[in-house]
Amino acid sequence: MMRPWWHAAAIYQVYPRSFRDGNGDGLGDLRGVEEKLPYLKALGIDAIWLSPFYPSPQHDSGYDVADPRDVDPMYGTLADAQAMIDSAHAAGIKVIVDVVPNHASVEHRWFREALVSAPGSAARARFHFRDGRGDNGEQPPTNWMSMFGGSAWTRITEPDGSPGQWYLHIFDSSQPDFNWSNPEVRDDWLTTLTFWLDRGVDGFRVDVALGLAKDMTYPEIENPEGLVQALRLDLDNDSDEVKAMRAKVTNSAIFDRDELQEIYRGWREVMNRYPGDRMAVAEAWVTPERAAMYVGGDTLHQIFNFEFLSIPFDASRICAVVQRTLEELAVVKAPATWALSNHDTPRVVSRLVAPGFDEESARTAARSLALIGHCLPGSIYVYQGEELGLADAPIPDAARQDPVWFRTNGEQLGRDAARVPLPWSGTIPPYGFSDSSDVTTWLPQPDGWAEFTAIAEAGDPHSTLAQYREMLRLRHELPAFADLENTAIEQVMPGVVRVTRGSDFTCLVNCTNQHIRVAASGRMLVASHADVTADGGSLTLPPAAGAWLLS
Ligand code: NOJ
Repeated sequence: MMRPWWHAAAIYQVYPRSFRDGNGDGLGDLRGVEEKLPYLKALGIDAIWLSPFYPSPQHDSGYDVADPRDVDPMYGTLADAQAMIDSAHAAGIKVIVDVVPNHASVEHRWFREALVSAPGSAARARFHFRDGRGDNGEQPPTNWMSMFGGSAWTRITEPDGSPGQWYLHIFDSSQPDFNWSNPEVRDDWLTTLTFWLDRGVDGFRVDVALGLAKDMTYPEIENPEGLVQALRLDLDNDSDEVKAMRAKVTNSAIFDRDELQEIYRGWREVMNRYPGDRMAVAEAWVTPERAAMYVGGDTLHQIFNFEFLSIPFDASRICAVVQRTLEELAVVKAPATWALSNHDTPRVVSRLVAPGFDEESARTAARSLALIGHCLPGSIYVYQGEELGLADAPIPDAARQDPVWFRTNGEQLGRDAARVPLPWSGTIPPYGFSDSSDVTTWLPQPDGWAEFTAIAEAGDPHSTLAQYREMLRLRHELPAFADLENTAIEQVMPGVVRVTRGSDFTCLVNCTNQHIRVAASGRMLVASHADVTADGGSLTLPPAAGAWLLS
């Protein structure tokens, strides 16, 4: 039996507002996505995952959804979405859409209705409205904190003008959390899934998949700051302190609660009614023991591997995380996922810059991590621009847009630097992102991206783009990659990672800052640096470089 496509797919994340501007207004759109399908096809990916394009006041770049069953005019129309889905399918590319079931936007019709309805009404019961504490209800109902900083509760003004109840938002105050203990909320989300499945989408990326269920007794949390911190992506996963923090997420008042299993069983039932192996991937940083609840066969299909996404360029850590992932998912019986970056994290190149390790070295290291990620069994996720080796762009404070920046009063810079519009061609902004040259892009593009445009890299056999194309081509072609079982990873010498698949495929990556020579037989297939050489029996790897070999 053929295995489902998502067991070993290459999935490209499109962040629509920064992918390609098809109508010249400085913002990416669905027409832009459709226009660039040939580029994506040539890259060799199997599917695209689009971040939200639904009507939204854009307080969190579209993750504040006013209507999950429509398209924001800034991205196009429902007809444009359908055309994009159909064209992707015609090109042999599957389409995954992002659903945001944890919360709505303050502009969602239900939330508007709740604001003008009485406390205790059915309209309020679709969200988490509570009276405040203190003599006049002037204090938030609980000590829960927002992931974006500050209290997770905001007080409303009642229709008669008096200070009123508080509503819960574990993200920005513009993102009220749905009350998932309410059957109306559950049913409405099944309608949303059906709406997109009927339009042919092949899967869903489930935003904040660990957050939907809340403890309806609304208890105080022992360490609310710690709970929020535990989900940060830039922590040292292997430290005992972080492990202890993460363990507290399980069945906490806000996250990773047992009730989720029943919710996702319902989703799976709906997806199972459709042909073509529809799938869903959970955005949920949970302990390995808990992963089974999200992908246990009758719930969702994949779960993001955040440990790999935040991995340092360190041979022993890479080996440990990869081994752990493979062992854990073998128990759960779900295929692994691998990603180096997404729209919420620094770009992998910038993440790897360190004292004594400049951007160029970090780019080589990022390309080497890609060599590892792309040769592992399971699905690989590629965040747009990663295939061009882009680094984070400098953002002037006045241009920042991320609510994280505003809610932490500038203490955290937020995620804008990794969300800058892509450079397609040319030597100056907008680098072909938009056709009109005097456009102001929603985030400024830096000078110096001329060498990182898709066009410039397409003409350079040693570019990051050339490496990605080659890896993706080989993923489809090498027989060793068809077998999802026989993978081994180890340090073949101190600081050097070796991955083998089957009997003839080897990936070697030098995580040291020295040139090394390592015994390796076979033909070199692709490398992360122009100076990697293979000569009958050995491979010479510059610092941070790596290669794939076939014997
Ligand atoms: C995770 C999304 O990836 C992120 O961009 C967003 O801000 C939060 N969820 C809230 O929806």
